[in-house]
Amino acid sequence: MGYKVVVAGATGNVGREMLNILAEREFPADEVVALASRRSLGTEVSYGDKTLKCKDIEGFDFSGYDIALFAIGSDATKQYAPIAAKAGCVVIDNSSLYRYDPEIPLVVPEVNPEAVDGYTKKNIIANPNCSTAQMVVALKPLHDRAKIKRVVVSTYQSVSGSGKEGIDELWDQTKGLYVPGQEKEPKKFTKQIAFNVIPHIDVFMEDGSTKEEWKMVAETKKIVDPSIKVTATCVRVPVFVGHSESLNIEFEEFLDEDEARDILREAPGILVVDKREDGGYVTPVECVGDYATFISRIRQDSTIENGLNLWCVSDNLRKGAALNAVQIAETLGKRCLKKG
Ligand SMILES: NC(=O)c1ccc[n+]([C@@H]2O[C@H](COP(=O)([O-])OP(=O)(O)OC[C@H]3O[C@@H](n4cnc5c(N)ncnc54)[C@H](OP(=O)(O)O)[C@@H]3O)[C@@H](O)[C@H]2O)c1
Repeated sequence: MGYKVVVAGATGNVGREMLNILAEREFPADEVVALASRRSLGTEVSYGDKTLKCKDIEGFDFSGYDIALFAIGSDATKQYAPIAAKAGCVVIDNSSLYRYDPEIPLVVPEVNPEAVDGYTKKNIIANPNCSTAQMVVALKPLHDRAKIKRVVVSTYQSVSGSGKEGIDELWDQTKGLYVPGQEKEPKKFTKQIAFNVIPHIDVFMEDGSTKEEWKMVAETKKIVDPSIKVTATCVRVPVFVGHSESLNIEFEEFLDEDEARDILREAPGILVVDKREDGGYVTPVECVGDYATFISRIRQDSTIENGLNLWCVSDNLRKGAALNAVQIAETLGKRCLKKG
């Protein structure tokens, strides 16, 4: 006997990837239901070689379902996640709504799989922000060896991180720059995104940082270690899929770059591509559709005592969202909700 699974937000970027990944990884599901808003009632979405027709989340009866993968944004999650959880269905949520709730586990299965066990308090598990997920996969094995003191991270985040509208805006604006009469003003983003970069993701905080930057700090502390100091600059770039990050890491003790490379090669979820030659590193277009977090450009930072620099790239719709959510479901199945 397998699981009865709900995918909420099945018409979205993340929801579609969740369906793909459930099928690709042969998640042991007896039934998969696709939900979205009323706007999408009857819309067809693919699940492996099957086609599912979307149902309206409003009024959906979650009782009898084991796991619900949510990717519908914070406002709708606030409305529907408690209903699903109350009906006995474990919600694995992609929005930021529950990530900082001390009674809700925030999980990256390569890093803190045991935290899944804490789902029982609210029947909800949170998935981290896309930039955090790939970063902590890289940090954890290094932290286990040499204890990280501080991380300076700059992100280069793709437009798919801001949903379907983000992808459309980059596409339409790029076309509009070449076709007279089709120019497109910024709508989803605060400035032109085509052929530009924007150092602003999510709202501004009182201290001048943005909420996206704050999320990377708070989530790294919750998932890996509260003692790690993180300072982040998050930047939107005109890339469709795949987030990149430049990481500068300061350790308590010396960690040689060759040893770091070996540790990362052995670490779960990581692929090291680091050839120190033209093209011997990974860029976002190459990571699309992949499960791995790719690490390149590993090198000593000689300006501090115990420092390393590296380049980290991953598919934000996969490791940054849908894959991580499915991995949480798999971990939950193995540790807590055994079936069959
Ligand atoms: N994209 C990423 O890299 C990423 C990474 C981590 C987390 N997330 C989070 O994942 C969530 C979804 O992101 P996305 O990129 O997939 O967005 P998206 O492509 O814009 O899709 C949004 C989905 O939410 C559904 N939805 C919106 N309002 C709804 C409502 N009131 N009731 C029911 N369904 C509703 C939409 O259904 P309709 O088609 O019917 O409108 C659609 O299926 C967000 O919380 C986002 O912050 C995204």
